[in-house]
Amino acid sequence: MNAAILEVQNVSMRFGGIVANRNVSFSAEKGAVTALIGPNGAGKTTMFNCITGFYRASEGRIVLNGKDGAQDIGDLATRPITGGSHLVTRAGIARTFQNIRLFREMSVVENLLVAQHLATRNGILSGVLRTPAFRRAEREAIDRAYYWLEQMSLADDANRLAGELPYGRQRRLEIARAMCTGPRLICLDEPAAGLNPSETRDLAEVIQRLCKEHGQTVLVIEHDMGLVMRISNHIVVLDHGEVISDGTPDHVANDPAVVAAYLGVSEEEVRA
Ligand SMILES: Nc1ncnc2c1ncn2[C@@H]1O[C@H](COP(=O)(O)OP(=O)(O)O)[C@@H](O)[C@H]1O
Ligand SMILES: [Mg+2]
Repeated sequence: MNAAILEVQNVSMRFGGIVANRNVSFSAEKGAVTALIGPNGAGKTTMFNCITGFYRASEGRIVLNGKDGAQDIGDLATRPITGGSHLVTRAGIARTFQNIRLFREMSVVENLLVAQHLATRNGILSGVLRTPAFRRAEREAIDRAYYWLEQMSLADDANRLAGELPYGRQRRLEIARAMCTGPRLICLDEPAAGLNPSETRDLAEVIQRLCKEHGQTVLVIEHDMGLVMRISNHIVVLDHGEVISDGTPDHVANDPAVVAAYLGVSEEEVRA
């Protein structure tokens, strides 16, 4: 097995009296697709928000491993969600949202440049003076933007307004934007929501290509079971905030606990 990029260790998240996540542990292997699934209210989005830094977990550790060694990210304080901060949540992790968040009035390529400027935070002064370092960074940002447009089959749309693109292409633009920041982990929140079957097939191909050709580590929340089974190497199932199953797509699909959770019946009824 490959090394784990992300390790979630005994994480609990409480909102007042509500326990949204209870003692959740799992890991995401490098270069693989890990899916987080479960019925509505299972705690998937909350887990995502803890990982991406929107929430600070009540208990437990979240560790992001990388070339600089393990980085404990569980103790970072919650950042206020202000304009633009959803583009870059914390170092090494990029995400997309269930409800697409793009700058609709900007062109496709501008969306990718803005994301990179927020990620690198080049000083304003170097921009005004147009120092060599600034011009080099700008050139690299443009190259990276076109590279990812090419990878997401969006090169022909570079100068269109983001808001004018069909939904499936907006999704792919969101993924391109996340990839432009060079994340160690990309988190996709229900990427197939609202897509038609042909757009969903394109999406599956794009996600698989991220792993196979770019060695990208992907964590995905998804309701479309066909998509989950097709693209995932590893599936973690949450129910009532707890992990009830963890393994290969085959293992999870045949686990009576998972079937019971989805049907809303007891495990014994499934086994019977
Ligand atoms: N900000 C919040 N404040 C209070 N309760 C919340 C909050 N976010 C989620 N919850 C509760 O936590 C539980 C899990 O929610 P969520 O993580 O959104 O589930 P899922 O994404 O799997 O549908 C639900 O009972 C939900 O009502
Ligand atoms: Mg949710």
